[in-house]
Amino acid sequence: MTHPQTALPQHLLSAADLSRDNALLVLDTAEELARVADRPIKKLPTLRGRTVVNLFFEDSTRTRTSFEVAAKRLSADVINFSAKGSSVSKGESLKDTALTLEAMGADAVVCRHGASGAPHRLAHWIRGSVVNAGDGTHEHPTQALLDAFTMRSRLGRLEALRVAIVGDVLHSRVARSNVLLLSTLGAEVTVVAPPTLLPVGVEHWPCAVSYDLDGVLPKSDVVMMLRVQRERMYGGFFPTTREYSRRYGLDARRMATLPDDAIVMHPGPMNRGVEIAAEVADSVRSTIVEQVANGVSVRMAVLYLLLGGAFVSDMAGAGADVA
Ligand code: NCD
Repeated sequence: MTHPQTALPQHLLSAADLSRDNALLVLDTAEELARVADRPIKKLPTLRGRTVVNLFFEDSTRTRTSFEVAAKRLSADVINFSAKGSSVSKGESLKDTALTLEAMGADAVVCRHGASGAPHRLAHWIRGSVVNAGDGTHEHPTQALLDAFTMRSRLGRLEALRVAIVGDVLHSRVARSNVLLLSTLGAEVTVVAPPTLLPVGVEHWPCAVSYDLDGVLPKSDVVMMLRVQRERMYGGFFPTTREYSRRYGLDARRMATLPDDAIVMHPGPMNRGVEIAAEVADSVRSTIVEQVANGVSVRMAVLYLLLGGAFVSDMAGAGADVA
């Protein structure tokens, strides 16, 4: 693999920031770095002396721990900042918080925030790199990268792969980032949802739109189920949970209509029994646990490349004796 002259932009705020070459660079670097996870000592010296701040204003299990593990495996110093217990609860603004972190010499700030666009604002105030770890209902680019990585490693390709993204597209930053990244990488995406859970302007997204899950499943190589995001719902988007599951939930009967080697994905956290049945989540087609493991490799690749690394073939091997 060669990646001539490819470097990431300073920040990773949107999946649209990534050209096809950049996205492939991240995926290939992640593949190299994944080998570190198989070694008894899972550490590389690459980011020794660099500081990564995890700035989380919204709850998170997978994404926060995954960025933390990723940074630590690259030997960076990690500061975990959560809004609870900080001066943010005393009313300190995002800008003042940012300037404080800047004064402490953060090389990268990984930011999750309930407001769409918060990481973009942050990028104006910070000299280091800003990584968007989920902003409101807007974007979650590293989730899209780890999803693409998982599809490629399970199915061997992304080009012309038929991907259905199903459920609460309206509130999902995962859906938007995936549509953008997957279309850059040549996959054919269809978003499937009831009309009330599709955002205004979805017809301009680089994907097809359908309301008919049963029609789409037999033509899908990948089906990605989205969580019904009740915490972002302030009205009635569907009659009852039961009705939603009946029309848009993935149960074993529906899963059986997928092509033989199709996979089922979910970014987590799942509402078992709502958008996905337990037997589907725990089936051999499900990549849900793999997605979490791949998240670490992909975030290692993102931090490594943003903080100045170039693609190194067999990096895991190269770092082995120094770690
Ligand atoms: C997602 C998120 O927070 O955007 N989860 C995640 O990062 N793995 C999806 C969700 O909350 O439904």
